[in-house]
Amino acid sequence: MAKEGAQRAEETEQMIDKEGGREAAEGGSLRAGDAKEMRAVVLSAFGGLNKLRVSKKAMPEPQEGELKIRVKACGLNFIDLMVRQGNIDNPPKTPLVPGFECSGIVEALGDSVKGFEIGDRVMAFVNYNAWAEVVCTPVEFVYRIPDDMNFSEAAAFPMNFVTAYMMLFEVANLREGMSVLVHSAGGGVGQAVAQLCSTIPNVTVFGTASSFKHEAIKNSVTHLFDRNADYVQEVKRISADGVDIVLDCLCGENTGKGLSLLKPLGTYILYGSSNMVTGETKSFFSFAKSQWWQVEKVNPIKLYEENKVIAGFSLLNLLFKQNRGGLIKGVMDKLLHLYNSKKIKPVVDSLWALEETTARRRARLGRRRRTTKATTRTRSACPSSSSSQRRGGRRSRGGEGNKTGKSLLCISEQML
Ligand SMILES: NC(=O)c1ccc[n+]([C@@H]2O[C@H](COP(=O)([O-])OP(=O)(O)OC[C@H]3O[C@@H](n4cnc5c(N)ncnc54)[C@H](OP(=O)(O)O)[C@@H]3O)[C@@H](O)[C@H]2O)c1
Repeated sequence: MAKEGAQRAEETEQMIDKEGGREAAEGGSLRAGDAKEMRAVVLSAFGGLNKLRVSKKAMPEPQEGELKIRVKACGLNFIDLMVRQGNIDNPPKTPLVPGFECSGIVEALGDSVKGFEIGDRVMAFVNYNAWAEVVCTPVEFVYRIPDDMNFSEAAAFPMNFVTAYMMLFEVANLREGMSVLVHSAGGGVGQAVAQLCSTIPNVTVFGTASSFKHEAIKNSVTHLFDRNADYVQEVKRISADGVDIVLDCLCGENTGKGLSLLKPLGTYILYGSSNMVTGETKSFFSFAKSQWWQVEKVNPIKLYEENKVIAGFSLLNLLFKQNRGGLIKGVMDKLLHLYNSKKIKPVVDSLWALEETTARRRARLGRRRRTTKATTRTRSACPSSSSSQRRGGRRSRGGEGNKTGKSLLCISEQML
């Protein structure tokens, strides 16, 4: 099963590479020009998968300081699932186009844009709207793709690795010999955390993940526990005084557990609240449970007495609300250096053509079956419809096993 998935991912990546290479060679002109419309995945209202469909939207044009990108692949992150459910603070109004990251080819430059040319292969953060054939985003959120990185890897790179890097190195100051506990270790951020930890000598990584993923990720994590195990006891059994860094994307009762596991001078970082998601649509009970009833009330005096650091991290807020694009560009430079030195590599779980998948299969994308995260891919990089159908039966099973990697979805009228 795992082999099938890996072969499938490779097949589709080769297909994207072939198309992407051809388009780049043609100066990115394929499908460019004077089209007035493009297709995008539109979320009509917060809720289940039935609220998503492909619609025609007006072709975006770059404003001053923006790049127009012909999208090849887009990341499907856990936050997209939370957005779909309306499970985020101050959600924007619907209808909206989800998606916060993509890879593709520069198709036009807004006024005053420097450093990029039409035809450049790029990856980018976008403040919504990434699940579309074409996006425009400010130049400060755009990064050139290294020559040997394909479009699917590039769409899997920014969110996972920037989040992991900033938490480990900017917030928690990871150093030689330290130990880290990370939840959802098989997910996109979890796997990026594991890879970055391996760039520092003698770092011990404790991870929690669903048991069926353990075989696939066992080499990236020093001590793996089932997500339902009593991980506090398990960690203490191995390391009596706990860990130096806790990365908590679950929230709820895990906040108190994480704090209790910190060694003196250790750092706990809250960066998600996956526990809020318990089904296809938002559950007010889960929301209340994760947010109000079970989160440890932190007393600063206790932190002082116990020598503990507590922090929060939100990449999207840093980028889009707190104007730290320049800082993140510096982090991307460091990450690309690590990539070019072959020290890190985005892992693609499976490649999903949205037009080939049923709602039932897609529903699993947001659930526990995957390791790492999914990406969507625009139709411009898809195979022809006949080859799509030919591959569909096999590819649509992608990600149901215990593989590592990331999925790709194509955008078309029939999808979502
Ligand atoms: N603050 C930030 O800047 C930032 C940036 C990126 C991501 N995040 C957060 O990091 C977490 C992981 O994101 P990701 O994109 O890496 O996720 P992902 O690749 O989609 O992986 C998700 C994994 O999370 C686990 N999980 C835990 N609770 C879950 C639930 N209630 N429903 C479904 N799956 C659940 C599952 O693994 P197991 O079954 O193995 O536990 C699942 O496979 C999310 O909480 C996300 O919001 C935060």
